[in-house]
This record gives sequence, C-alpha cells and structure tokens, in this order.
Amino acid sequence: MIDKINTHIAEVKAFNAESKKEVEAFRIKYLGKKGILNDFFASFKEVPNDQKKAFGQAVNALKNTAETKVAELKETLEGKQEEKGIYGDLSKPGEPIEIGARHPISIVKNQIIEIFSNIGFNVSEGPEMEDDWHNFTALNLPEYHPARDMQDTFFIQTDPDILLRTHTSSVQVRYMENNKPPIRTISPGRVFRNEAISSRSHCIFHQVEGLYIDKDVSFADLKQTLLYFTKQLFGKSKIRLRPSYFPFTEPSAEVDIYWGLETETDYRITKGTGWLEIMGCGMVDPNVLKNCDIDPTEYSGFAFGMGIERIAMLLHQIGDIRMFYENDLRFLEQFKSSF
Ligand code: DAH
Repeated sequence: MIDKINTHIAEVKAFNAESKKEVEAFRIKYLGKKGILNDFFASFKEVPNDQKKAFGQAVNALKNTAETKVAELKETLEGKQEEKGIYGDLSKPGEPIEIGARHPISIVKNQIIEIFSNIGFNVSEGPEMEDDWHNFTALNLPEYHPARDMQDTFFIQTDPDILLRTHTSSVQVRYMENNKPPIRTISPGRVFRNEAISSRSHCIFHQVEGLYIDKDVSFADLKQTLLYFTKQLFGKSKIRLRPSYFPFTEPSAEVDIYWGLETETDYRITKGTGWLEIMGCGMVDPNVLKNCDIDPTEYSGFAFGMGIERIAMLLHQIGDIRMFYENDLRFLEQFKSSF
C-alpha cells in the first residue's frame, strides 16, 4: 500500500500542465471528492493497527505534494497569461505608427517666420493677458480714443486695466521697451476679440506682427519687404498699398495682393476685382517711438500686422474659419507637412 502511495507521489512531482484545464483535471483526480486521496483515506480503517501511523504519514505526504503542485501550476500559468496581456503576441508583425500632422495655423505661422527670418527678422512673443498701456495707450490709443471701439475687447472684470490682447501690436511695445534699435522682429500669437462667431470671424484668432526700426527706414523699405514676403508666400508679385488709418502708424496703409481672376473662386473671393486685402501696415508713429523711449528724430521704422487664419484660408482654400478650431481629423489630416 505504501509503495503505491510513493508511486503516486513521484507521479505528482513529475506532473506538468500547459493549461488551467489540465491543472483542474489533475486536482480532481487527486484531491476531488471521488479522488485518489479520498480512496486512501476511506481505506484507512482496513490498515492493520501497527501500520496505521506510516500509512497516515504517507497519505498526508501525498496530499501535501498534490496541493503544492496544484498551487504552483496555477501560479505559473497565470503569470504566463499576464505576460501575454501586457506584451501581446510578440511574434506578430508590428503595427505601423501613423505620422501626425501639424495644425494648419502652425504650418502657416512657421512659413511666415521662415520667410522673415531669411531677411534677418527674429521672433518675439508677449503675454496674451495684457495691460492697457501695451495694448492701447502706448500704441497711441489713449483713453476715450474712438478707435478703441474698433477692437471689441475682453476685459478682466475685477481689473479694468487688464485685458486679453486684441492684437499682437502689444508685443511691438514690449520689444521696443526692452531692446535698442536696430530692431527687426516678428511676433506671432493668439489674440482675442468679443466678436460674434461666423464663417469669417472668431473671438480667438492668430496674428503675426512685424516691426523694423533703424536709422533712415523709409516707406519704400516697407513696400519692398512686403513685396518680397507676398512673392515668397503666395507666389504673387503684384501688391498695392491703399491709404488707411491705424493710430499707431502714420502714414498707414492696407496691403492688397493681386490674386488674379482666372477661376470662379477667384471672382468670388476677390468680389470680381482680382485684389485681396491681406494686412495692415505703416510707418511707426513718432508718438509710439517716444512712448517706448526711442528718439523719433534719430530713428524711424515700419510695422505691419496680418491674421494667420485669413492667410491660411487663402493659401488652402478654406471656406470657414471655424474649421480651424473644431479638431475634425478629416480636416487636420490633410495638412501632413514638413513644417
Ligand atoms: N493691429 C492691427 C489689427 O489688429 C494690425 C496692424 C495694422 C498692425 C497696421 C500693424 C500695423 O503693425 O502697422 O488690426
């Protein structure tokens, strides 16, 4: 009888399983209600008294070995499954990694930066939350100036001196306060206006501001710089400067590019004229220079400002400004680009 038990112990020790099912079948065979161990326990009363002790010890040894075996096998099989859970099937071919796309606003912004950096402009930035001085007063827009109304401003309720900047011209002021001429800088950034949202306007959009201050800077320099820019960005080589008004420049102008009248879309977007307005510009008003501690008798300069959304809409024929902010992947994925 004891020999039989020892054979079982050897068998249990040698047992191995590939699946939980096999372990369960093994457990039932030895430890189940009608299993081998219970058979041995049942035959206990037939064992002669002098052998009872040795028999009992042998049966207990078999029970312990079987229980340990079952627990061990369960543990290793579970471990294996966890490994699979984390790493999956390691022999499978890899999944392709999709290349993302930059946002069209970033692409166009980077294009503009690149064009101006090629002619010596650096990039400067300023805060989106501004004070009255940098957004208005220093730019020749004192309190009660009617032109303040043109820019529907978001004020911070608790402090009427603090607002969300309505244009990136505020960065001009900051830059001039902190740097001496010659200055050649462009300032891209987000701006905010309390405007109704439609296909053509939004309350949050982006601008790029340009500023050039040095000795003897003239209006001709401004025109030539903008002509270079429009040629590079749009491939169009005809521009016109229409007289306009901005408080911070004198004289001021609106820049139009000749888009052409080749397609129906050209007719529609230029309203049949062939011309498209793309930015505002002018010679920096002497008052603005004074406000920034630059002597207007020694230095002069020009400035310009454009909306990035407008430029991106023209370049990529986007009909609705809201597309930029909806994060629709079908729209965004069309802009896979190296910029
Ligand atoms: N700040 C103007 C706007 O938001 C744009 C602008 C016009 C900027 C003329 C300039 C400029 O620097 O000279 O509408």
